[in-house]
Amino acid sequence: MFYINENFLNLQDSYLFSTIAKKVAEFQQNNPDKKVIKLGIGDVTKPIVPAVCDAMKKAVDEIGTAEGFKGYGPEQGYDFLRKVIAENDYKGLGIEPDEIFVSDGAKCDCGNIVDLFDSESKIAITDPVYPVYLDTNVMGGRSGKFNKDTGKYENIIYMPVSSENNFVPELPLITPDVIYLCFPNNPTGTVLTKQQLKKFVDYAKENKSIILFDAAYEAFIQDENIPHSIYEVEGAKDVAIEFRSFSKTAGFTGVRCAFAVVPKTVYGLSKSEEKISLNKLWNRRTTTKFNGASYIVQRGAEAVYSEEGRKQIRENIEYYRENAKIIKEGLEKAGFTVFGGVNSPYIWLKVPEGLTSWEFFDELLSKANVVGTPGSGFGPSGEGYFRLTSFGTKENSIEAIRRITEVFGG
Ligand code: MLT
Repeated sequence: MFYINENFLNLQDSYLFSTIAKKVAEFQQNNPDKKVIKLGIGDVTKPIVPAVCDAMKKAVDEIGTAEGFKGYGPEQGYDFLRKVIAENDYKGLGIEPDEIFVSDGAKCDCGNIVDLFDSESKIAITDPVYPVYLDTNVMGGRSGKFNKDTGKYENIIYMPVSSENNFVPELPLITPDVIYLCFPNNPTGTVLTKQQLKKFVDYAKENKSIILFDAAYEAFIQDENIPHSIYEVEGAKDVAIEFRSFSKTAGFTGVRCAFAVVPKTVYGLSKSEEKISLNKLWNRRTTTKFNGASYIVQRGAEAVYSEEGRKQIRENIEYYRENAKIIKEGLEKAGFTVFGGVNSPYIWLKVPEGLTSWEFFDELLSKANVVGTPGSGFGPSGEGYFRLTSFGTKENSIEAIRRITEVFGG
């Protein structure tokens, strides 16, 4: 008889967004006449822009010819895309194309990166947090058991973020090996300034920790003093890996394309204290476990950086920003306390007094037929909060606010 990886038994029953999808499906089955508005999972609604579609169509035609046919591509991504990413997203930041690894999603990258770390590594996450960082480390055996009373895992370092600390995590008291940061933050929609981020970079340097920086929402930054990349912070190239995605920037949630930046200057230690390049390890892992994102998709991603592509994508981002404004201001008018929603597509609100996040979820679904994400689903410090996304249509954003105001306003 074979044995399973028992770390999986430490996980909560189901992935947050699967639990929500199941609850919503049940509600819809029992209430077929109700028009449910989904502002839960951060999935986009605007179609892929013409510049990207045209590039993908061209690539389809190309691979249908003898000269243009493509078999396995480079596991790390085609040079044309790695180059255009380095030149645009990391202009002036000294990131080379061979430090960029193209993939089929930042969720996968964030989950897969843990392959590089010792199973005893101490992990620090913000609380609340995008569940992938935590769950993949639980699967990898880097946590202890889940404590139902505290809502926390043993052996995981939680860095609470809430209105009490202005959503700026404190440096951890116990020194972690791996620190996850996501800014603009999922789920709170809040940001860190360069100075605030620098504290973490300096801390990681001092303590020989590594920062895993998820910048999936950087395209939504409007304020000039907010860094788009952690590499804008001096010293970060020695201590940080960055994840980016075309999902929220260019509507690729279904098309799938993202990338991880693993600078050649980031080193980890072997048990014999030998310095090992993480770029080399990630390359080794990638070539072994991945055969590259599809050529067609990578040509589409390349077009994101073309003049036309850039312009068209900007319009979509503006559209979602406008939704965020509608939701944020509408909620405020209805009497809610609201965070995020300015440099981020996520709006983080305080639930009405006396309700838990999940109770508010149920009430919102049953009374306003609006779906959001309960804050406590992202961690114990998310209790009392709730997340809405601006990725719906404008009409639905307006209608959702109208319904919420009707049920909870005043
Ligand atoms: C979210 O809603 O938090 C994200 O869409 C999930 C993801 O990007 O995987």
